[in-house]
Amino acid sequence: MVLIPAAMFFSILINSARYCIGVAESFSIPDLTGAGRLELCASLLEGGLTPSLGLLQVVKQYIKIPIFVMVRPRGGDFLYSDQEVEVMKKDIELMKSQEVDGFVLGALTEDGRVDAELCMELLAAARPLPVTFHRAFDMVHDSAVALETLISLGFERVLTSGCDISALEGLPVIKRLIDQAKDRIIVMPGGGITERNLQRILEGSGAQEFHCSARSSRDSAMKFRNTSVTMGASFSAPEYGLKVADVSKVRSLNAIAKNTL
Ligand SMILES: *[C@@H]1O[C@H](CO)[C@@H](O)[C@H](O)[C@H]1NC(C)=O
Repeated sequence: MVLIPAAMFFSILINSARYCIGVAESFSIPDLTGAGRLELCASLLEGGLTPSLGLLQVVKQYIKIPIFVMVRPRGGDFLYSDQEVEVMKKDIELMKSQEVDGFVLGALTEDGRVDAELCMELLAAARPLPVTFHRAFDMVHDSAVALETLISLGFERVLTSGCDISALEGLPVIKRLIDQAKDRIIVMPGGGITERNLQRILEGSGAQEFHCSARSSRDSAMKFRNTSVTMGASFSAPEYGLKVADVSKVRSLNAIAKNTL
């Protein structure tokens, strides 16, 4: 195990059945035996942000499966300014030069539609690599319309909780989206997937891939602690607890997926 301050998502591809697991807010590079894809991002507390080039380079040394990189310059909404778009394009260019295997991004218009014009520009920058539209999808006004837009834009997959707080709550919508997609785009459920609900989500949706965090908390190694000081503002992450990718969770998620898919 190599210690790095990172947040990761990974996807796995086993046999012909494709599915993925995401590892969230991890401080070590987990044993990804059986995994076929890794999604790399930073700052999972904000839902995932563009990771640093340093993180990418270190992870690439240890992880030999394809790495998809999140391109999201900040937390919050998915309505980007011209300068933020400039940053996103530059990040795509830099990450491509590091030989990543794909991108995960998304952009919306102010009225809650997929920003087709901007997505076209970002896709052009990312090509020929595959691109996943991330959970910005869960914030759209009309998910059926948004899915058609993503298909016509040529996104390879969309990550969604079914426009709900978790993939379990959003299960009916996820199923509807998969039925609507008819193999034109991969609909990948994500958001709160654990060993407890994975089988239900796969069986209930018909999904061939999934995305989840497989994480658990670990106590900080700090011996000196000042609990009256925190780094965050109104919402704050616990200073003395770490989120780590949990190998045993990865294994049991793998086993459940293998049995279900
Ligand atoms: C912890 O932080 C508080 C607030 O800044 C400070 O008053 C206190 O002296 C600190 N305690 C220790 C043990 O350093």
